[in-house]
Amino acid sequence: MTFKLPELPYELHELEPVISSATLKLHHGAHHRGYVEKLNRLIKGTELESCTLDEVVRRSSGAVFNNAAQAWNHSFFWQSLRPAREAATHPCSLAARFSAELKSVAAGFFGSGWVWLVEDNGTLGVAATANADNPLRRGLRPLLVIDLWEHAYYLDHQNRRDEYVAAVVDRILNWEFAERNVSAKAVHAA
Ligand code: FE2
Repeated sequence: MTFKLPELPYELHELEPVISSATLKLHHGAHHRGYVEKLNRLIKGTELESCTLDEVVRRSSGAVFNNAAQAWNHSFFWQSLRPAREAATHPCSLAARFSAELKSVAAGFFGSGWVWLVEDNGTLGVAATANADNPLRRGLRPLLVIDLWEHAYYLDHQNRRDEYVAAVVDRILNWEFAERNVSAKAVHAA
């Protein structure tokens, strides 16, 4: 299968001021696109070419895994966000339960990675993964994710990662996406 860069579910400016158009354009159009294109080059002519992206993430290692997981994680990240103008109008119990923990786990995480809301055998919790890693590899079900790589926030927040995470959690996190994932049987990136 040739993987495609998914369209963003909103316009480039709609996550401002938390995430600028410039950041989103680069993040989606260059970083995410780069992972997808490199993955396609790496799996061309191999048995992984017939797999879904979920299967590649579960079965691969090395450079193939890194690019497949980054493709998966970014697709999931775009769906985990929503325009700021809609954010305050949907109070949600998941937000009340997990906002502070997402911020504190992200604050305690060193280096590049991701902070996730996950389900572990019916129990919801927060977990961080390093670099490209994805909770599917540990048998956990991803429900929501925030990108902690510098490319996600540096243009807008410089080194203030905690400020970026707090703004994402409080203003543009798509908790309804997480709620739908809680009740869904399986979670897919796209
Ligand atoms: Fe990223």
